[in-house]
Amino acid sequence: MSRGYFITFEGLDGSGKTTQLRLLAASLTSAGHHVVSLRQPGGTALGDRIRAILLDSRSEASLGPIAAATEMALMFADRAQAIAEIIEPALAAGSIVLCDRYTDSSEAYQGGGRQLGSERILAMHAAACGNLQPDLTLLLLPSLEASLRRARRRNQRHANHHGTDENRFERESDDFYRRIYEKYEEIATRDPRRVFPVRDESSIEQIHTRILEVVAAHLPSMASDVTRDR
Ligand code: TYD
Repeated sequence: MSRGYFITFEGLDGSGKTTQLRLLAASLTSAGHHVVSLRQPGGTALGDRIRAILLDSRSEASLGPIAAATEMALMFADRAQAIAEIIEPALAAGSIVLCDRYTDSSEAYQGGGRQLGSERILAMHAAACGNLQPDLTLLLLPSLEASLRRARRRNQRHANHHGTDENRFERESDDFYRRIYEKYEEIATRDPRRVFPVRDESSIEQIHTRILEVVAAHLPSMASDVTRDR
């Protein structure tokens, strides 16, 4: 059996990547492919517990401030488990794996946002993930201004719904998001063969079509079934 294909989605909070991942999963599935989707942090039973600690803004009220290096290590503990439990077995079985965030998020958020630097993240990636790289990364990166607007809007919606914003990350400052944005730009420049940035701010459907074209171009065997009828 030939090895599967590993695709990750990246971008700032509110970039629309989760919606695009679902649309791509549906298109690939209806074209007859076996698709395994997951998100990080989370996806495994252990990972869901780590996610609760990392994302809940109440964590720091009960646990005290979470150090940046702890945050990094927990992200990688989650990732190592997801690789062992879900990603590697699915790739070995020939599936297409779609992952909502992966190591680029750690490099952008912990390396850039929390200013730990890329080197520590990449060393951690080698140690915890055996350097497993996605075959293709779809980086949803509209302009910084649009990204900040969307992140704030989403945060506000969440606060209206739940009374508080529960995501620790969404309470961060514009400077934090600016550093993340710049780190994503740096990653895209460093690794143009793997990372495909989608910078436009067109409709969900137009971006989906663009993503299908990119995936079809990377997977020539899929070109006919994935883009057929469109
Ligand atoms: P989530 O609610 O899943 O947000 P999104 O839909 O934007 O992905 O929260 C994930 C948060 O965790 C997000 O703010 C980014 C952050 N994160 C890191 O800081 N480092 C990481 O390695 C990962 C995977 C996520």
